[in-house]
Formats: sequence, structure tokens, C-alpha cells
Amino acid sequence: MSETDIAKVLKKIPYPVSVVTVGTGGAENGLTISWLSQVSFDPPLIMFAIDKNHYSNLPLGSQSFVVNLLKDDQSHIAGHFAGQSMEGENKIDKFPTREAGSGSLILTEALAFLDCEVEKTIEAGGHTLVIGKIIDAGVLNDGQPLTSASGMRYQKS
Ligand SMILES: Cc1cc2nc3c(=O)[nH]c(=O)nc-3n(C[C@H](O)[C@H](O)[C@H](O)COP(=O)(O)O)c2cc1C
Repeated sequence: MSETDIAKVLKKIPYPVSVVTVGTGGAENGLTISWLSQVSFDPPLIMFAIDKNHYSNLPLGSQSFVVNLLKDDQSHIAGHFAGQSMEGENKIDKFPTREAGSGSLILTEALAFLDCEVEKTIEAGGHTLVIGKIIDAGVLNDGQPLTSASGMRYQKS
């Protein structure tokens, strides 16, 4: 079994394309995330995997995040939030937002949102699994979800 064999199979797993917004009180940031899954019905828990080297890891100390599911015509938003943050940059201020109950930001043009409190984090290889308890959720706009079927996929850098 080679790395290519593994990659071929992993490419067959479908993923949503979302923007996770983290941080509160002027220290907000957002990044495009695909490795996202529900992990429990009761309590309602979801998790995502974030590269330990990403800038957006830092404000996770704030203990909340919002998953903004994108629409299938919003690949430009996914592209924007997949850009690496520069120090002092706020990638979110180019888009309309409102504050969620947790204090993290909702992208109001997105398809839907999940507002979460960080329940626990688990180190897993090069990534951190962030497990969040859903404290609020809502469909914001009509449309279909943007997925990896569009060709947008998390690639190894
Ligand atoms: C379609 C797509 C999916 C992505 N999914 C993830 C992911 O699940 N986890 C992750 O850590 N990075 C993922 N990325 C990469 C980050 O969005 C990217 O590295 C970004 O620059 C990190 O932002 P930051 O520098 O503000 O932390 C994905 C990128 C794309 C284009």
C-alpha cells in the first residue's frame, strides 16, 4: 500500500465546504474547513480538524466557533477564507456578519450556521480535533450546500 493508494481512496469521501469563524471581541478570524462531522445526537456535538500550524488555531482559546455552511455558488468565499492570514489581518471584515449567541460571528450570506461552544480538543497527528456543542443553529438562505463534488478539496500543502 502506497501513499497514492491511500490518497485515491480518501478523495472519494465527500465533504461539505464551510467557513469556521473563531474568536470574539476584535480578535476574530475565519478559515475554510472541510473536515467536519457530527459526532453525537445527544448532546448535539460536531467536530472539525484544524492544522496545528494554522493562524486560526490561536483564537480558539476563546472557547467558541461558528460553522458557516456555504452555498454551491459561494466558492469565491471558500477561496477567500482559504487564504493564509497575515498578522493583524481580519479576513472576515469583507463580508456582512452578525454576532452569534456565543460571541463568534455568523456570515449572514451563508447557507446555514451552527453556533458552538468548544467542548474539548484532541491532538491528532498534525491536526487538532475541535469538538463543539451546538448551542444555536439556523438556515440563513435558500440554496444547496457547497461540497467537495465542486472540486474544492483540502489538499496537503
Ligand atoms: C476546500 C478547502 C477545505 C479545507 N479544509 C481544511 C480543514 O478541514 N482543516 C484545515 O486545517 N484546513 C483546511 N483548509 C485549509 C485552510 O483553509 C487554509 O490553510 C487557511 O489558509 C487557514 O487560514 P488561517 O491562516 O487564517 O488559519 C481547507 C482549504 C480548502 C480550499
